Amino acid sequence: MKVPSISKAELMLHEASVMNPGLWVKHNQVAAFCARRIAERCSDLDNDSAYVLGLLHDIGRRFGEGDLIHTLRGYKYMIESYYVDSARICLTHSFPYKDLQCYEGINDCTNNETEFLSRYIKRIDYNDYDRLIQLADAISDPEGPCIMEKRLVNVVMRKGFNEFTILKWKEFFTLKEYFEAKMRCTLDELFRF
Ligand SMILES: [Fe+2]
Repeated sequence: MKVPSISKAELMLHEASVMNPGLWVKHNQVAAFCARRIAERCSDLDNDSAYVLGLLHDIGRRFGEGDLIHTLRGYKYMIESYYVDSARICLTHSFPYKDLQCYEGINDCTNNETEFLSRYIKRIDYNDYDRLIQLADAISDPEGPCIMEKRLVNVVMRKGFNEFTILKWKEFFTLKEYFEAKMRCTLDELFRF
């Protein structure tokens, strides 16, 4: 996979945390931990890649405040470094439901950027790493792993909801069931929520 080494990824996140400090850094570290723990239970997933993908999924926040645009900023930043698999995760992690409108929060992208994002998401077939980070994102509070329902409600409390919220939530529960079957254990058992 085209992803940075663990030490390089940790350096990139550290640099980003200096540029734009915030809870998002801890959230990414927790997502990396969760992604690795889940990958360890799945024989076809690489543990280190899972960790790195989790660690860098919100790396677009290094450039400062931003809502939807953080996905595209992260994508471009990773593409420039030729880490294409990490780049795609910067985009796909926010769209378990394949419609841009399912994003809670503000669309602070230009029309061209929105068009690019929309086409990219629709065109791509999600693989298990896309699915893994979508799930890890949804169980990673800055304080540590948490039950998915808590995180989903938190996001809605912060950003509001729209007519796609329930569809998106259903996708999250499908992801949870998918990985629980793959791991042969529940997330509750794995993380002892
Ligand atoms: Fe995230």
